[in-house]
Amino acid sequence: MKRLSLLLLVLPVCGLMALPPGVERVAAQEQHPGEYSPVDIENGSRLYTSQCITCHGPTGDGVSGIDLRRGTFKRIASDDDLRSVITGGVPGTGMPKFAFSPTEQNGVVAYIRAGFEVGGRAAKVGDTKRGKQVFETKGGCTGCHRVEGNGARKGPDLTDIGAMRSATMLQQSLTEPTGALLPINRPVRAVTKAGKTMTGRRLNEDTYTVQIIDESGRLQSLLKADLKEFQVQTASPMPSFRDTLTADEIADVVAYLLSLKG
Ligand code: HEC
Ligand code: HEC
Repeated sequence: MKRLSLLLLVLPVCGLMALPPGVERVAAQEQHPGEYSPVDIENGSRLYTSQCITCHGPTGDGVSGIDLRRGTFKRIASDDDLRSVITGGVPGTGMPKFAFSPTEQNGVVAYIRAGFEVGGRAAKVGDTKRGKQVFETKGGCTGCHRVEGNGARKGPDLTDIGAMRSATMLQQSLTEPTGALLPINRPVRAVTKAGKTMTGRRLNEDTYTVQIIDESGRLQSLLKADLKEFQVQTASPMPSFRDTLTADEIADVVAYLLSLKG
């Protein structure tokens, strides 16, 4: 334990000197706003193995009703909630308190948010209420997305997005929408032989027909034989928020999206 925290303190200083080859590679990897660093995840993995694995198990589901790797908790939403359970324990249960430094807390939280994948990515999960605020105001998300019947239909309905996507996938949608674009959400443009142009998202396609959700949210089934042009694009029409929202705001929006479970 002692040795590890000492190592963590020394690490930032090492950045100025020659790094061991493995560390350099990790530090050079691109990091997106609203994410933990690969170094945090790695430190967390070591702490988890030494301090948590005996009860929570190697795959995180050793305590009934809780799956740390998959993010199934009893009373936790944000990363701050996670930190307070780790440092305060759960009184009256077998969950002990841990006297971790802030760096160690970040490490364990990062490892949990990375789904136990060293070398993976770990999105920060902020505050749900603040995230809702950003979603509805500064982020302008309701200009394109609906939640429980409110908002526009240019983008997919997000009412139950938290049940379908991980924090990391949601964070990627916000910071690099094109990289995170799923085939089902690919934008399409169709021009009929009669000269009508339609744009929207492709829902389904077979040999003869294609179903799209047009920009006003209507389902359109088109016969391919009636089409003059049909293009599926691989670039997302959604703007990236990596420069227009702060890292904290992104983490808050991710928390809000995760809370949307239909
Ligand atoms: C001695 C056994 C033990 C150890 C060691 C332990 N835990 Fe737990 N932990 C538990 C138990 C039991 C619970 C269930 C508490 C409850 O019923 O709410 C729990 C609950 C939790 C929860 C979930 C709280 C919730 O509301 O869902 C988290 C997160 C957690 N532990 C993280 C950790 C981490 C991280 C470590 C290592 C730093 C750790 N635990 C070490 C026994 C342990
Ligand atoms: C100009 C319109 C527009 C705005 C503004 C916009 N989006 Fe999107 N968004 C889209 C479109 C279109 C898609 C579908 C294509 C894609 O997945 O990239 C999408 C996709 C997404 C997805 C992925 C859905 C999935 O199925 O995984 C998420 C999450 C999302 N948006 C959240 C947001 C949030 C949060 C905001 C505000 C911070 C926002 N969007 C702002 C148009 C927009």
